[in-house]
Amino acid sequence: MVDDRERQHGQPTQDDHYFSARPASADERRDLEVVLAGREVTVQTAAGVFSGHRIDLGTRVLLRAVPAPPAQGHLLDLGCGWGPLALTLAMLSPEATVWAVDVNERALDLVRRNALALGLHGIQAARPEQVPDDVRFAAIWSNPPIRVGKDALHQMLTMWLRRLDDAAAAHLVVQRNLGADSLLSWLDSQTRTGALPNEIRASKLRSAKGFRVLIVERPADVRAASSAARDGEGDGDSRGRG
Ligand SMILES: C[S@@+](CC[C@H](N)C(=O)[O-])C[C@H]1O[C@@H](n2cnc3c(N)ncnc32)[C@H](O)[C@@H]1O
Repeated sequence: MVDDRERQHGQPTQDDHYFSARPASADERRDLEVVLAGREVTVQTAAGVFSGHRIDLGTRVLLRAVPAPPAQGHLLDLGCGWGPLALTLAMLSPEATVWAVDVNERALDLVRRNALALGLHGIQAARPEQVPDDVRFAAIWSNPPIRVGKDALHQMLTMWLRRLDDAAAAHLVVQRNLGADSLLSWLDSQTRTGALPNEIRASKLRSAKGFRVLIVERPADVRAASSAARDGEGDGDSRGRG
């Protein structure tokens, strides 16, 4: 049972934000016992980092809804915090490279330490600009930072979702009261404006406990149709050049 006190964990206080590059609060580390990928583990968390007292409810909803990640390739936890999603990805796909991306240096330090302590060598904890431009992702999991504001959120999502591999999917969890449905409509509109590739589709995968899990992907039938259209154009070109 999840009560209101639980929902409040992880919310920023007025003078410190979980998305600050260097949180103002004292860097007091604490151990937290959690279950990730079915394994009971102890992780380190801290003040000034999102949901340092427990795995956030939205993150838990996402973890229950996502399919197993691909075994190989580059996987992304966008906005990793202390790392519940990145650590899970690395436990489930030990041969993959898991990019744990955040702007909060304390979060990145925690996820590095947690990965080391758990023997998860595939995790690369990085600020957004440290991820090489040519990396494409076989999966993206994210509990995105809604509180950074709409413009920053939209910019962040278009920047990373463009980098999905052809057959890959991104799973995002967003609280219904924090605009999950309008985010879904916005994502959908981005394929029409060209901000996202026009083969990409966004839809709602699941609703639970006040959260929506959104899936952003290039569905196989849409990919096939656009590949057929491209082939058709190719035929046209070659006939034209005749
Ligand atoms: C809602 S928290 C989720 C944290 C963690 N994934 C979890 O499930 O507990 C969102 C995270 O996004 C990070 N963030 C904020 N702006 C970001 C940006 N531009 N790029 C990447 N991460 C960002 C925040 O610092 C925060 O750690």
